[in-house]
Amino acid sequence: MIKFDFDTYGKLYLDKEKYNSLMEQKEEYIKKLQECDMTGWMREIDSAVVEKAKNLAGVIRNNYDCLVVVGIGGSFLGSYAFHQMFKRYFQDDSFEVIYAGVTLSPEYLDELTTYLSKKNFCLNVISKSGTTMETRITYQVLKNLLKRQYDEEELKNHIILTTDKEKGALRAEANEKGYVSFEIPEDIGGRYSFLTPAHILPLAVNYDLDAIVDGYYDGKRYIDAAYQYAVTRRLLFDQGKVVENFCVYEEKLSSFTEWLKQLFGETEGKNGVGIYPTSSVHTRDLHSLGQFVQEGNKILFETFLKIEKSSHFIDYKGKELQEINNSVEDSVMRAHNSGKVPCLEIILDELTTENVASLIYFFQLSAAFSGLLFGVDPFNQPGVEVYKKEVRESLGEL
Ligand code: PA5
Repeated sequence: MIKFDFDTYGKLYLDKEKYNSLMEQKEEYIKKLQECDMTGWMREIDSAVVEKAKNLAGVIRNNYDCLVVVGIGGSFLGSYAFHQMFKRYFQDDSFEVIYAGVTLSPEYLDELTTYLSKKNFCLNVISKSGTTMETRITYQVLKNLLKRQYDEEELKNHIILTTDKEKGALRAEANEKGYVSFEIPEDIGGRYSFLTPAHILPLAVNYDLDAIVDGYYDGKRYIDAAYQYAVTRRLLFDQGKVVENFCVYEEKLSSFTEWLKQLFGETEGKNGVGIYPTSSVHTRDLHSLGQFVQEGNKILFETFLKIEKSSHFIDYKGKELQEINNSVEDSVMRAHNSGKVPCLEIILDELTTENVASLIYFFQLSAAFSGLLFGVDPFNQPGVEVYKKEVRESLGEL
């Protein structure tokens, strides 16, 4: 269950007339969204694909030491954030999933290959385009490692390619070599691809995929809140609040804020508009960035992600630690509001896989509405191509 409070420390900053007028246009914006091309993420996922992921995950768990996921951006952040949220801080006993492909650090790749040379690993390469440089380089290095141990026939048991149905080098390779493959639907872009094969295979090795699927579609019921959140943010932008600080009170959510940064940053940041997303882990960052938030440049508003109940009970002088954590959060919102920083709040009753999947759907809806409210295409990212082109011009096709 998810609750929302965008009013207590948010609404008072908004132009009432504009707010009421935009809120009245909700149905029009829902229609606009439904008419967009890249909205395959709102469609039910094919149950045969879910079954295929579950079966393959079972094979991976039973036959390999670890799964190495190679991907970046929307082909990495969703399932990575999920793993970070639900693995244990210490003595984690989940099946090992290693996320590679997000760096060109020779140090990282060298240490990774040394580590993997002693492991029986399975590789899931995820790239919708099949052309992403970081993914291609990492895949090549790890495939070479596999090739030192296995012949072409055996490689088929170690490589899974997740990519476009028809286009790109990975699809061509899957067809030519007969590798197991998954398709990322054409009408779903990277940052909206949480419930697609780009993420469900890495998720299925550790989590109940059915619960995630149910939770994700359950997020549909938060459509009104998603629209209200988008309208509130849009009008805060008009008040000069051009930076959104996502605040979490559980360190495990810090990778989720990385997913949020991509979702909102790539969706809105076009044509000279958009809110710059950033994040803080509290209470740690209250002792560093907190000063700026309280008394610095008034460009910020904040969105707090609260978890009401914890399954871990720590007593401190007769009080639950989670109670103290939540009470601190309430105090921080009051304090920041007194420093003219609007604070919006999203409350999960518990940190469960179902709740997080619903939250992901909520945020995807909100980001899409927000793009439309800013008058930009919520589903493209032409700016990301600019650096890729520069790289191609200086290094050629890698
Ligand atoms: O949102 C996006 O589309 C991008 O961030 C991509 O996900 C990212 O660039 C990776 O692209 P690909 O899956 O084609 O390798």
